[in-house]
Amino acid sequence: MGKDVIIACDFADGKTCLEFLSQFTEEKPFVKIGMELYYAEGPSIVRELKARGHQVFLDLKLHDIPNTVKKSMAVLSGLGADIINLHAAGTRAMMEAALEGLTRPDGTRPLLIAVTQLTSTSEERMREELLIDRPMDKVVLSYAQNAKAAGLDGVVCAPREAGKVHMACGADFLTVTPGIRFADGDKGDQVRVMTPADAKIAGSDYIVVGRPITEALDPVIAYQRCVAEFVD
Ligand code: C5P
Repeated sequence: MGKDVIIACDFADGKTCLEFLSQFTEEKPFVKIGMELYYAEGPSIVRELKARGHQVFLDLKLHDIPNTVKKSMAVLSGLGADIINLHAAGTRAMMEAALEGLTRPDGTRPLLIAVTQLTSTSEERMREELLIDRPMDKVVLSYAQNAKAAGLDGVVCAPREAGKVHMACGADFLTVTPGIRFADGDKGDQVRVMTPADAKIAGSDYIVVGRPITEALDPVIAYQRCVAEFVD
């Protein structure tokens, strides 16, 4: 799998999403569908994007008992998504069940990646509310190793964690990294940001880019700039 730029299509409805993507006439970007759009439109938005030739990362972050996750993953896999995710906090048993559910009758399956600790969770909140008493980077690496042991393909992490994850889990274990901003761009609500070029140096396999592309005056040029910095 080569490096790629994934556009976070954080739109409230399918019409807005499809209008946005219709600006891309030369390329078919890899897209990420999150909870907002999926809950608004349901499975049809995934089928529609696949029919239009896009690769789809379905960012629904499943976390439930193993049997429920296994059956839900089987449904999502049938939609043709290319990458799906879950919370590593669901434990290895849940991740292994998810993998079983994902495998299609023809033997193929989407890539499965794990969220370790959300980047919105601080070390202090993790200690005070979740009663996890270890440093954040140790927790992230340990969750990544659990995901690897369960047979998953990678994790979602901050770009600055990508190198450590590769060292602990191997070069082939995928790091999918949001929190990307252009050097001259607005950070918005993201705190620990990196440019596409720095994410490439840090070892990210996929960057997930939302507002720097979706809110750009010319989204196609912004996307091409990401590809030029990160892939080419
Ligand atoms: O607009 P922006 O580039 O900040 O979008 C980043 C995308 O990545 C959003 O869809 C956000 O929900 C997602 N994400 C994130 N941080 C995580 C996990 C997912 O920003 N730790």
